[in-house]
Amino acid sequence: MKDFWNNRVVVITGASSGIGLALLENLSRYPCEIFALARRANDIEDPPSKHPACKIIRIGVDLQDTSSVLDALAILHSHTSGGVDVLFNNAGITAHGRFDELSLEVYRKTFATNFFGPIQLIQGLLGGLKKAKGVVVTTSTVSALYGVPGRAAYSSSKSALHAAMESMRIELKEEGVRSSLVCVPYTETNLRKSGLDVKGNVLDEGQAKAKLKTPKEVAFLLMKVAKDKEARLVTFDFSGSFMKWMRNLAPGILEKILYKKLYHDFH
Ligand SMILES: NC(=O)c1ccc[n+]([C@@H]2O[C@H](COP(=O)([O-])OP(=O)(O)OC[C@H]3O[C@@H](n4cnc5c(N)ncnc54)[C@H](OP(=O)(O)O)[C@@H]3O)[C@@H](O)[C@H]2O)c1
Repeated sequence: MKDFWNNRVVVITGASSGIGLALLENLSRYPCEIFALARRANDIEDPPSKHPACKIIRIGVDLQDTSSVLDALAILHSHTSGGVDVLFNNAGITAHGRFDELSLEVYRKTFATNFFGPIQLIQGLLGGLKKAKGVVVTTSTVSALYGVPGRAAYSSSKSALHAAMESMRIELKEEGVRSSLVCVPYTETNLRKSGLDVKGNVLDEGQAKAKLKTPKEVAFLLMKVAKDKEARLVTFDFSGSFMKWMRNLAPGILEKILYKKLYHDFH
């Protein structure tokens, strides 16, 4: 049976862990070509459910390092002359800490991974995306919808990415390139382990005390969004739509709720 994913060329950043790894596992059930990017790309194993005709190409890349991104682009260009159908712009790190304590270095590292690296990669893949009339699906966060306390660096890096992706969507509409942003709520991954503390050390925190989504659930939504020509800013559940609407309707009430709910995150 013909499926949307059959014979597609798909790039996934952050494919070594969490949501990106779940995307890789889900997509590898189809006869498609997957470029799996991460610093630890070589550690990515073939999923047990992999379709025999699915091809996985692992590319080691550090999004914080412009020359590493250029090297990854050179490999991608040599394999994707037919175009790129879907780029899951998924890799990212979090950073925890109060605005008055976060070092500038933490902002730089967070923006390097969540903003500058992805922008460089997307720009480099535009030729392939234009050729295939492809789509960029960005894994974003509800924390991009308002400056969340204790998350100034993370929130700002992701909301900056929103603005760039929205500009791109309008500018490249005529050439058939789409861009969708998916604001994901708390999900059970390594994000809080691998993130940064106020000084730029590894965070190594446990999971959030909240109802957590599974990486698989999120990966399914991201795949659905890739097929939806009208998807722009997608919120996963009430937490996202609440932030989205309250920002304009009643920001004062929203700030009181964020202050109370996340008090322990910034005190
Ligand atoms: N988990 C949540 O609660 C949650 C909520 C909202 C949004 N998100 C977003 O979901 C996305 C995926 O995160 P996750 O939750 O799946 O966390 P994760 O398990 O920590 O995965 C993060 C991925 O990003 C890659 N990565 C990190 N720094 C990188 C760098 N410098 N260069 C290249 N790749 C890098 C990691 O690979 P390597 O370490 O191998 O490089 C890893 O594959 C992120 O953009 C995050 O902001 C997560």
